[in-house]
Amino acid sequence: MTSAPSPCAALGILVQCRPGFEADASAELTAAARAARFTGETDTQPNSGFVIFELTAPEAHDVIRRRLDLARLIFSRQAFQVLAVLDDLPDRDRLTPLREAIAATGERFSALLPETPDTNDGKEQSGFLRRFGPLLEDALAKDGLLRPDSPHLPRLHVFFEGPKRAWLGVSLASEGSAWPMGIPRLRMPKEAPSRSTLKLAEAFLTLLTVDEQKSTLRPGLTAVDLGAAPGGWSWQLASRGIRVTAIDNGPLAPSAIATGLIEHLRADGFTWKPKKAVDWLVCDMVEQPSRIAPLIADWFATGRCRRSIFNLKLPMKRRHDEVERCRALIDARLSAAGIKYILRIKHLYHDREEVTCYLTRR
Ligand SMILES: C[S@@+](CC[C@H](N)C(=O)[O-])C[C@H]1O[C@@H](n2cnc3c(N)ncnc32)[C@H](O)[C@@H]1O
Repeated sequence: MTSAPSPCAALGILVQCRPGFEADASAELTAAARAARFTGETDTQPNSGFVIFELTAPEAHDVIRRRLDLARLIFSRQAFQVLAVLDDLPDRDRLTPLREAIAATGERFSALLPETPDTNDGKEQSGFLRRFGPLLEDALAKDGLLRPDSPHLPRLHVFFEGPKRAWLGVSLASEGSAWPMGIPRLRMPKEAPSRSTLKLAEAFLTLLTVDEQKSTLRPGLTAVDLGAAPGGWSWQLASRGIRVTAIDNGPLAPSAIATGLIEHLRADGFTWKPKKAVDWLVCDMVEQPSRIAPLIADWFATGRCRRSIFNLKLPMKRRHDEVERCRALIDARLSAAGIKYILRIKHLYHDREEVTCYLTRR
């Protein structure tokens, strides 16, 4: 790849992922690109924190967008269409060549996302990025290329693979994360019993639309939390006024009990059933994905919950294949029950060897 041959043509797709998950991100991206009838090759370096599908022939972005839904990619924290790559950036002045290359794309942008891979090498560039981002933003605003008041325009990604190499690309806000590199800046609440409370907070922000968050996370609703101890997820629900039945043989932290909205029952999450249907089922039990997926599907098929957020723990090598197997298990159970549903799955920033799923009736 050298530079963009004409405005609006993309050279490939770059997906940012958790370092160590390149093989899964690559398998998924390649399958999605081939299903959308694009030809090209995927370039994958282990532990690099990103993968690239290089198109054999450049393609207009709206064509790519129409055929390939980047928002659906599970192992992608952030994804964009590549317009150009700049090599040998001079240490003293990276602004001038970048500014010129951005102008040469012929595009206008709604926002700038300065990014690096989420690796140790990438983190070394974070100080530079903090200084450089505002400088580039000012320069682009002066050039008339940055229009924050036009949210329909694509966002500009400037992804520094290293100090000398930057990838330029575009995505729509609806296709990717609102946060640069897909890393949410969430404050750890002092009273929360465990850091995994942030996982559920990120899941709400990432997997639900703003309207869904408003209508489904409000006081007066009910939830069941399977595998609740020490109570980070239950606490996250209770902090929104939702009444929770927390199922776990282990103890809950006093700060969870102190919410007054959480009832703790020592029981087995695979056999316990509520007397009345609940609004939310959440589940973070450490178990085989092939046991969790049918359990959640069963709660839906028998009308015990309206929506669910659950984790699939993936310690195995071929994680992408395992997720697809679970998707098929859920589909088989719900289709047999005549239930139309929406299933969104994401490898969240706060997820390690697992993915987080949101399931709701359509
Ligand atoms: C990762 S921890 C959950 C952390 C919790 N989400 C939080 O935010 O604090 C997994 C929990 O699942 C529970 N667990 C595993 N198998 C279970 C089962 N069959 N029934 C109920 N709980 C189970 C474990 O006792 C453990 O507390």
